[in-house]
Amino acid sequence: MEILHVTAECYPVAKAGGLGDVAGALPKYEQHHGHNVKLIMPYYSTKFVHESEWETDYTGRTNLGDYFFSYKILKEKTNKLGFTLYLVEIHGLLDRPKIYGYDDDAQRFIAFQICVANWLRQWHHKPGIVHCHDYHAGLLPFIFKYCYDYNSLSDIPTILTIHNAEYQGWLDWNKSVWLPRYDLWKTGLLEWNNVINPLASGIKNAWAVTTVSPSYMRELRHNSNGLEDLFEYEKGKCTGILNGIDTELWNPKTDTYIEANYDIAGAAKGKQANKEVLCNEFGLNIEKPLFIFIGRLVGEKAADVLPDAVKTILWETQQAANFLVLGSGDPFVEDRLEEIKYIYPESYNFYKGYNERLSHQMYAGADFLLMPSRVEPCGLNQMYSLRYGTMPLVRRTGGLIDTVIDIGDAGYGICFNHANIEDIKHAVNRAIGIYQSKKMLYAYRKKMMQIDNSWDNTVEKYIDLYQQFIS
Ligand code: ADP
Ligand code: GLC
Repeated sequence: MEILHVTAECYPVAKAGGLGDVAGALPKYEQHHGHNVKLIMPYYSTKFVHESEWETDYTGRTNLGDYFFSYKILKEKTNKLGFTLYLVEIHGLLDRPKIYGYDDDAQRFIAFQICVANWLRQWHHKPGIVHCHDYHAGLLPFIFKYCYDYNSLSDIPTILTIHNAEYQGWLDWNKSVWLPRYDLWKTGLLEWNNVINPLASGIKNAWAVTTVSPSYMRELRHNSNGLEDLFEYEKGKCTGILNGIDTELWNPKTDTYIEANYDIAGAAKGKQANKEVLCNEFGLNIEKPLFIFIGRLVGEKAADVLPDAVKTILWETQQAANFLVLGSGDPFVEDRLEEIKYIYPESYNFYKGYNERLSHQMYAGADFLLMPSRVEPCGLNQMYSLRYGTMPLVRRTGGLIDTVIDIGDAGYGICFNHANIEDIKHAVNRAIGIYQSKKMLYAYRKKMMQIDNSWDNTVEKYIDLYQQFIS
């Protein structure tokens, strides 16, 4: 089967979060399972893009309303990722250092999708499936079906995977001039709550919709940033497919980012060596349990609760634990996390920013991972931490429900209900209790590291879904 993924991120080309990890891994595993997989994404100004070799596959000229521009479709020459990688290059619009966060993001991703559709239109054959990820590719199902110039693409089956329904790409109607000419009778299929809503349009027009965990799919019908009724209405074509992880890339035995490699048998020694490196780097006491938080410092991750929770725990336990935070986001949260460094320099540290190497070292060297997320469509951190023998402490939401079982229910993690100081404190105290018995800690580590969350187990669920639409 020929599968084309359309996405805004893909590790190692460009990554802002879990979408990048999934888009780097799912196509690779689909290819391993015998399919012909391609992925197309924007050309950003990243290290990977500059260091790779590209050939021009197609050049074209198109417009967003009265803004005309030229673009190129570039193909990576050496099959570095294990599937065929294409980039859409639009000078001035896409080729910037960051993936998101510009005032003209909506315009950038519409231009990206128009170029993808133009490129597909001139293929000599059609792909079996076009798999769109998040709102950045959410308009393609509409474009294929109802934009006059793309009629030839109307019978290509499209799948929309929602990694995060919080971001929908809303646009005022005066921006509709950016879209290719479309059947005006179908205007309702672009719209939700009186604006153009690319994510809602994707849900209405894709042949099938998936979310990245079954529990998140259920939650969206009650809590989806305004789309609740739409999810209820479209539930017949929606399914939740739990993400996997790339177990080649995320393998403590071979991970080149970490100081000491280890497997299940050598976990006690290996994790201790990695913890020592971290504690030395961040001035922490190696005897204490090390709790980490890695992620975007935003409300969805409950990052705003973190500073007070950490301060309360350190105060009440007389610094019985260490905390190390890696992330960036809300400047107010960043400042409050920064302040704690000066209050508890021996038990707390904060690395502000994005650092792939450090994230791996933290999964390897920590004892516990804290994830109090308010919203978590799937969450990959907890799966990486399980693989590295680091016990996750998670709030019961979305994919965290589907991937972490509390030790009280014969599981291997700690679960709590509310993203507040009380619940976080209680979870941390339970973890400190486990840490005090090395025998118990090591037994849980073994259990965690035996869990197999590889994409190998999940990829067939996507293939089965695609197959339903292939005649
Ligand atoms: P989300 O996509 O919502 O941010 P996920 O749990 O799905 O959350 O994935 C987050 C991914 O991004 C993981 O690979 C995590 O290790 C990584 N990550 C998040 N923040 C940082 C950071 N500051 N530095 C390095 N890696 C990070
Ligand atoms: C999104 C979600 C996250 C999920 C990731 C990959 O960024 O916030 O929960 O794991 O996508 O699907």
